[in-house]
Amino acid sequence: MKVFSILVLLVAGLRPTVNAQYINQHIEPKVQNLLSQMTLEEKVGQMTQVDFSVISVQDGQNAENPIDSAKLESAIVQHHVGSILNAPTTPNNRAQPIEKWRTITQAIRDASAQTRLKIPVIYGIDAIHGGTYIQNAVLFPQAISMAATFNPELSFQEGEITARTVKASGLDWNFSPVMDIGRQPLWPRLWETYGEDVYLASAMGKAFIRGHQGDDFSAADKAPNCLKHYVGYSYPLNGKDRTPAWIGERALREYFLPGFQAGVLAGAPTVMVNSAEVDGIPGHANYHYLTEILRGEMGFTGFTVSDWEDINRLYTRDKIAATPRDAVKIAVMAGVDMSMVPLDFTFYDLLLDLAKSGEVPMSRIDEAVARILKVKLQTGLFERDQPTLPAEAGLANEASNAINRQAAEEAIVLAKNQSLLPLSKQASVLVTGPAANLLSVMNGGWSITWQGNIEEWYPQDKLTLLRAIQQKTSGKVTYVGGQRFGDEINIEQAVTEARQHDVVVLALGEKTYTETIGNIDSLELDPVQLQLARAIFATGKPVILVTFGGRPRIITEIAERAQAVLLGFLPGMEGGAAMADIVFGDVNPSGKLPLSYPRATNDITPYDHKPMEAFEANQYKPLYPFGHGLSYTRFETSGLKLNKHTINLGESVHVSVNVKNAGQMTGKEVVLVYLNDKVGSVTRPVKQLKAFKKIELEPGQQQTLNFTLTAEDMSFIGVDMQRIIEAGDFKVMVGDETAHFSVIKP
Ligand code: GLC
Repeated sequence: MKVFSILVLLVAGLRPTVNAQYINQHIEPKVQNLLSQMTLEEKVGQMTQVDFSVISVQDGQNAENPIDSAKLESAIVQHHVGSILNAPTTPNNRAQPIEKWRTITQAIRDASAQTRLKIPVIYGIDAIHGGTYIQNAVLFPQAISMAATFNPELSFQEGEITARTVKASGLDWNFSPVMDIGRQPLWPRLWETYGEDVYLASAMGKAFIRGHQGDDFSAADKAPNCLKHYVGYSYPLNGKDRTPAWIGERALREYFLPGFQAGVLAGAPTVMVNSAEVDGIPGHANYHYLTEILRGEMGFTGFTVSDWEDINRLYTRDKIAATPRDAVKIAVMAGVDMSMVPLDFTFYDLLLDLAKSGEVPMSRIDEAVARILKVKLQTGLFERDQPTLPAEAGLANEASNAINRQAAEEAIVLAKNQSLLPLSKQASVLVTGPAANLLSVMNGGWSITWQGNIEEWYPQDKLTLLRAIQQKTSGKVTYVGGQRFGDEINIEQAVTEARQHDVVVLALGEKTYTETIGNIDSLELDPVQLQLARAIFATGKPVILVTFGGRPRIITEIAERAQAVLLGFLPGMEGGAAMADIVFGDVNPSGKLPLSYPRATNDITPYDHKPMEAFEANQYKPLYPFGHGLSYTRFETSGLKLNKHTINLGESVHVSVNVKNAGQMTGKEVVLVYLNDKVGSVTRPVKQLKAFKKIELEPGQQQTLNFTLTAEDMSFIGVDMQRIIEAGDFKVMVGDETAHFSVIKP
């Protein structure tokens, strides 16, 4: 039993690594100077963010110049709007040529320059996996697939390239990364998270921010990020988007806050608020989360922005505000600094009235506006009179496509291989299934359009899985499938063709979606996909199951009958080419699951489960566990060693382990270091990921990897909600090996 514990102030006490001295000396004076000159109307305007449609002509997506100058004047000059978001036309948004983006943003910049104080608009966009709405920009694997690479360097590069796309378009601010934790597979935005593990999500999110922001996000090729959706949005009890989460404070601090803390410490200057509610308190009304925790404990000094229309929804949906005016008052006083109104000026009018009546004190208005001005100054907006990069810097090129290709290759998980893969390049292949010949199913939402579902708008030079396979083999390739996801597939024809080919590639999964549109009632696959699979299996031909989609749909029967299983999730625009490279052996797969892949639709247990979830009849029995992923070669870890087996409370332990490529093919391997605190005053997970490294080894090559387990790694949220470490015994797990150490009272 534990004899002693210490309070761990390592995380909570740290302040973000922003250059506080620079801000105090150079930015704060400018903020105060501007604030002292601003009228109430100008201040309230800065807190107002509107959608592009508010300043757009009708059918803006097809107009040469989508801006309505009178509407622009009304927004910028009359209502002093501080921020604009999205692409021409809402809600679908359609990717625009970069030149058009530069025209749009320049017109807005010029309009701001005509205002009394020339305070620039900050233009925000969801560039969540590259250039969502910028034609011919790179579209990376979505976050769930970036997490499957277990390669923070790739996430860093994705951040660099995305920031260039944002800035070359004349845009300013990226509503990304999502730092929610993905532990509810039904949730239609699971794929926008980095998966179920806190450590992995924090590592990938930090790397993305560091690539995107650099050390100074006013640089020509850098841009500020926005951590979202703070906090607990990703864990709806019933799995449906924008429905209640019930998260106790210990779970909040153990699983849901750390990712945001990591993002704050990485220097992200904005946070977007959770659209739903936790424990009965809507995110936009939660003073405890937005002010006491985010500001008081986590040290966040940037500004918060509401999510879409969510302040007004406190009245229209949540019924915690009796009027729209009350809704504005509740949200602003809870700690929301900027309102994504987004389709009119109601927030501006209501807050103006609340300020004049004194119901919202000027001190609160000034506090919010100061935060917004500070971020605008940090972003370099006041010195920016045109895009800071040439247009071509924002478009895909050979180098960025190569990085995107590597990301897709490293994201794909080889979950099963009964000596079928890699295929011969002379093999004849039947390709069938709803996901076989579409780019949308590999990109997901926020791709070309909000829902990512308009296939004809995708760049036709990119390869679907079918087209990539056709390029790979000299054998006959036949496709039996539809044009769109869900089109009827002639099963009889597929069976006939299967019999005439060496192997069948069966591409299954789900169509694209995001947000509530993606709500489902079961993780089961569409029955027609299972029907196709069963008919193909009846031919006796070897089957490669390939899946694409944002959620782990239930594939158990199909996976158990297929000779090989490749889990693609959302590998992005290079996903088809990468998948074919893996199928034919030009790439050795290295992806690892960033989530526990459920065996059945209600068998949802995370890998870092509690002891009672694997006790007696309860078992952790996913179809594939967190961290699972095969290779065409064979890696062996051995010689797990600790530098000490007894340490004082607060000290670290150094871990070393050898990893060898014992196979015949060069490959990349992720070595995962897990820790278990054997006995605690709060039940401890059976294992938690605390470190990992990805390396590439040639056949026969061996390398020793070194890791450090710190006091923070051994800590947890104790009975009194404080982060503590307790003396006691710990187990380190790497591969098939374990090692033990004890923490004692000094
Ligand atoms: C949406 C999403 C959010 C996005 C915002 C702006 O409702 O919840 O992730 O950044 O609106 O598009």
